[in-house]
Amino acid sequence: MDLEGIMEKEARYHLGTYQRFPAVFEKGEGCYLFDSQGNSYLDLISGISVNLLGYGYLPLVRAIQEEVNNLIHVSNLFYSRPQVELAERLVEKSGFARVFFSNSGAEANEVALKMARFYGHRKHKDRYKYLSFYRSFHGRTFLTLALTGQEKFHQDLDPLPDGILFASLNHLEEVEQVLDDKVCAIIVEPIQGEGGIYPSSVEFLRGLRQLCDQRDIILIFDEVQCGMGRTGSLFAFEHFGVRPDIVTLAKGLGGGLPLGAVLVNDKIVEITKKGDQGSTFGGNPICARSACVVIDKISEEDFLAEVREKGNYLGERLKQLAKQFSSLITEVRGLGLMWGIDLPPHARWLSQKLGEKRILVNAVSDHTVRFLPPLVIKKEEIDLLVENLEEILASSDWQ
Ligand SMILES: Cc1ncc(COP(=O)(O)O)c(C=O)c1O
Repeated sequence: MDLEGIMEKEARYHLGTYQRFPAVFEKGEGCYLFDSQGNSYLDLISGISVNLLGYGYLPLVRAIQEEVNNLIHVSNLFYSRPQVELAERLVEKSGFARVFFSNSGAEANEVALKMARFYGHRKHKDRYKYLSFYRSFHGRTFLTLALTGQEKFHQDLDPLPDGILFASLNHLEEVEQVLDDKVCAIIVEPIQGEGGIYPSSVEFLRGLRQLCDQRDIILIFDEVQCGMGRTGSLFAFEHFGVRPDIVTLAKGLGGGLPLGAVLVNDKIVEITKKGDQGSTFGGNPICARSACVVIDKISEEDFLAEVREKGNYLGERLKQLAKQFSSLITEVRGLGLMWGIDLPPHARWLSQKLGEKRILVNAVSDHTVRFLPPLVIKKEEIDLLVENLEEILASSDWQ
């Protein structure tokens, strides 16, 4: 079946909630994807921050194949070797007390929010509210949507769960004004991803930590997009030097397979009872085995130092472009291998133009183009991106 045939079938059978790029990718290698016509594309989306080790990384492929041959699923009624091996790695490397596994980022956040509410009820009797931030994104379940600070996700869904407060990222005074004594948790992305790559400041996260300590509020870092080496540290909280009470992970963790994780400290362990959480698939043997390979690779000496170096390089090159095209690019933001450039209202146009040149990036809005390459991207590939960006921005195509 050719591309047209697939598109026709999709239009006939799929609910049609996605705005898709017109390509069918059938293979991948390193940072390149190959479509059904054999064209290669440099990929700076990486499955939305998932394919950290690029495509076709053999140790990952082999580990998954081996595990498929062993056992595909048993449920959490039984012990699982891959799951405990992953738990050990995550707990030992993070310094957190325990971990719980889910299947996705939204679900990891749901679990974290439930745990915080258990804490609010069991420790303080009547704390149930949450504080989140404008421009955030936490998932597509009702609660995580309600905590997502972007109106467009709330349309036609009311009534959403209540007891949710919002403040602006990096405005500690506003947080203090909005907080009340019914709040059990604050949830924050150390770097807002879907909202357009907005990093928190170190002072802000420190301030949140202090506030939460003073009032015994649970601080949750949603590292679903910015964790797993993306910032140049295995966990984003390490980069900022601020330790939350709960960290949520997903996306890159499973090496392309669906897996989420919730890391918790002793405060949460102490109030948790058997039966508080459960999942049919969470921490499934194949996903867990795959995640072990990802963590082992990211933890290799020099891997994260290279991410930091390449991330600085990408950031510098984007900032140079912003100087060169100052009437078009209004801002460059990012950290590690997570960058965004603002060029309102041409962001979608730019991502389309790059797509035509077989470079994949995505526009998160009309304002912002986002770059989330595999962590194994090479400097030459960054150069290729920048050369193409320069060519497009210098072209007379701008209306
Ligand atoms: C910060 C953040 N949290 C949660 C989610 C939801 O993750 P999932 O799509 O795996 O449910 C996302 C997805 O983009 C995200 O970026």
